[in-house]
Amino acid sequence: MTELTRLFPAADFQAGEWRLVDVKGHSIGVYNLGDRIVAYRNVCPHQGAPVCLGRLGGTTVASKVGQYEWGHRGRVLVCPWHGWEFNLETGRVLFDGKTRLASVHVDVADGMVCLRV
Ligand code: FES
Repeated sequence: MTELTRLFPAADFQAGEWRLVDVKGHSIGVYNLGDRIVAYRNVCPHQGAPVCLGRLGGTTVASKVGQYEWGHRGRVLVCPWHGWEFNLETGRVLFDGKTRLASVHVDVADGMVCLRV
């Protein structure tokens, strides 16, 4: 059965910040995207790398021919082993939209960021 684990005050977790936490032996990355907080297991679905230790950035988005527009700033996590890029809004890898990070339920309760693990 999963339990709610209180992590840290939400007021101390600003937009754009992320933290790596350990809950019941599971390494989990918690990300404040500004409009929501998401959390994922620190295991890449490709070959098991500690994906949450990867770089946070953006990616090119659809634009006119000959133009390169950068978007999704701070919402794309790049796996440190082979460079797969994951959309932190959905957990899905950018190149196929099917493979995804294992999400963890996150909530804010009584002003504390909490995970259900
Ligand atoms: S282990 Fe993450 S891209 Fe290969």
